[in-house]
Amino acid sequence: MPKPLYIVLEGVDSCGKTTQSMRLAEALGAQLTREPGGTRIGQELRSILLDPSNSEITPLTELLLMNADRVQNLSEEVVPSLKSGISVVSDRSFVSTLAYQGIVRGLEFDLALQVCEIAMGEVRPDIVILLDIDIEQVRARRGTGQHNSTDRFEQEQDEFREKLILAYREIAQRLTNIRFVVVDARNNPEDVHASILAAVSELQKEHQDDQ
Ligand code: TMP
Repeated sequence: MPKPLYIVLEGVDSCGKTTQSMRLAEALGAQLTREPGGTRIGQELRSILLDPSNSEITPLTELLLMNADRVQNLSEEVVPSLKSGISVVSDRSFVSTLAYQGIVRGLEFDLALQVCEIAMGEVRPDIVILLDIDIEQVRARRGTGQHNSTDRFEQEQDEFREKLILAYREIAQRLTNIRFVVVDARNNPEDVHASILAAVSELQKEHQDDQ
């Protein structure tokens, strides 16, 4: 039986991550989950985190609630699937916390990483696919109404998203113990899907060769 993989898709809002996560999970017959909100408790935490009326939430509260969601998601969804031989595709992971809370919200990167490590225990993604996009494309997609959500993060200004794009690129360089694949998400969705599949196939092949 091939080794089940824990595959994460990451990127700034509007990069197409949610659509691509769904397509990838379907193509692989993998379990799809997301952070925040992959479990029942996670859904409740997600409502608190995204509610625009909760403007008094501090960055540290965000960090802790995102990680509370993560503990539930890993223990209820990710680990049981992997144990039963089923791969997992996750829409976001601890890498989002490093980008959003650790860098852009201005907390200490190392503090954010430490809290994530406590939440994750021994579990790490086998591969993180970063859907890289530029701010012009983000503006264009938001402008076309593809993203008219009004959650607390969506309400941030473009400057926030611009910082996130850079933060993600920095993290991909910095986390040398995690396999990052950067995919150009400005391409059309078919090409992006094909690039993601190619990256996953390469990893699967490496695992097969190791056996
Ligand atoms: P989503 O819209 O991609 O489902 O994610 C909800 C928001 O939560 C998104 O704007 C990114 C943010 N987020 C963080 O700030 N930190 C995290 O650790 C995660 C997982 C998401």
